[in-house]
Amino acid sequence: MMYRTQVISTGMQCYAGMVIAILLTLAVTVQTVIAGQNMEKPLSIKLPKPHTGDGTSVEQVLRIRRSVRTFATEPLKLSEVAQLLWSAQGITDRDGLRTAPSAGALYPLEIYLVAGSVNDLPGGVWHYLPDNHRLEHLGNIDVRPPLAHAALDQAWIREAAAVVVFTAVYERTTRKYGKRGMRYVHIEAGHAAENLFLQAVSLGLNTVVVGAFQDDAIRNTLGLPEDHVPLILMPVGR
Ligand SMILES: Cc1cc2nc3c(=O)[nH]c(=O)nc-3n(C[C@H](O)[C@H](O)[C@H](O)COP(=O)(O)O)c2cc1C
Repeated sequence: MMYRTQVISTGMQCYAGMVIAILLTLAVTVQTVIAGQNMEKPLSIKLPKPHTGDGTSVEQVLRIRRSVRTFATEPLKLSEVAQLLWSAQGITDRDGLRTAPSAGALYPLEIYLVAGSVNDLPGGVWHYLPDNHRLEHLGNIDVRPPLAHAALDQAWIREAAAVVVFTAVYERTTRKYGKRGMRYVHIEAGHAAENLFLQAVSLGLNTVVVGAFQDDAIRNTLGLPEDHVPLILMPVGR
């Protein structure tokens, strides 16, 4: 009899324990969902559609392209910034292929924009998302001065209306191509940067390719993830 009472009471304890465990799990789940809803999402903006009609001919742009390191103080238009980013890594195909070629279509490049003086775009650091032609806001501090400092104090980085930063995640390409993938990533960065250069010239804007900088200082200034390696800076202005 005692044994039966003990079994019944142990069974009830077990049952009560299970109910408490379920209730606790539910409470934690509800809390997590509420916290998730309250978490501030990064500001993200849809960029104006790129213009793909007639512009300056490639031949003409190639003939007049020059590195320019002085900029007027007039701001850039958001449509111009959108066009520049699209020219570097925009999606031009249903399968997700882009304006610049990529070994194995693995797309190791990630592009950031440091906006200083762009109409209709809050200043600070932005990340370009080619998939839906958007910019995601990562920070609102004007980091052009520390960026220039990280690039051996090249003044044109501080004075540009915006700076485009090309970074690469090598692993996306070396995973498939091994050590040779490093070479492919550099070739791709060159393609994307030249696209942007020619697009800038076609829009009547000025730019220069900057390769002299301290990687870690650029990474810290922009708050880049560990595996995003900065490869090229392109200050852009009028
Ligand atoms: C890989 C690479 C790195 C460069 N780094 C810098 C740089 O750090 N600072 C700069 O002012 N120009 C830099 N330049 C621009 C060159 O100085 C410039 O392209 C060269 O003088 C030829 O002039 P052009 O571009 O007008 O034809 C770089 C160019 C390349 C291709």
